[in-house]
Amino acid sequence: MVGLIHTILFNMVDQLAGHEKTRKIREAAGVASDAEFRIDENYDDAEFRNVLAAAREQLGLTQQQAEAAFAKAFYEDSKERWPTWFAISKSGRDFLKRQPSIHNGFATGVSDPEARPIIRDKFRLEERDDRLIVHYRSPNKLCGVYVELAKLVLAHYNETADIEHVSCQNNGDDACEIHVIWN
Ligand code: HEM
Repeated sequence: MVGLIHTILFNMVDQLAGHEKTRKIREAAGVASDAEFRIDENYDDAEFRNVLAAAREQLGLTQQQAEAAFAKAFYEDSKERWPTWFAISKSGRDFLKRQPSIHNGFATGVSDPEARPIIRDKFRLEERDDRLIVHYRSPNKLCGVYVELAKLVLAHYNETADIEHVSCQNNGDDACEIHVIWN
């Protein structure tokens, strides 16, 4: 997982619950208190899952609450950090269409060549007239974050769309299939 995600998560905990909580989360997840996460480098996905689980426990959040809180923090951070992606995307659909290639840009940027396909292969998109179909396969099983972020992106562009989670890794399916449907 690219260190951007750890950075946003730790910043979120700092803001919601203070720096001491962040220290405890690092400790519980077995991450050194001074370990740095570069936003353009890849780190072990399993370590990230430990950090996320520790954050959920320390903040006393359900899985769904944690996903929604993280998605909100991610959205707020992204608007500040990457305004160009919002400026060049003219609609929610346009932005969501671009999302896999934004991610692939990160995959290309990391220095470890073996990490690139791991990042790149998480998302695949199909386009239909009325919908985008997202195929997502990842050991992190963060489809809940996808759905929450998609809702925030739609709201950003004052759009409404239905989101159907047709299959889900959290229910034992091989991959998640998420339909974003514009009526
Ligand atoms: C400016 C916009 C965005 C940027 C810069 C960005 C960047 C990233 C990066 C660097 C990762 C880590 C990838 C990895 O290490 O495998 C990530 C993960 C993720 N992003 Fe985005 N993203 C953006 C928008 C979105 C949007 C709009 C969605 C959903 C609608 C989304 C959904 C996700 C999910 C679900 C993950 C977790 C993937 C996994 O590890 O399983 N992202 N994003």
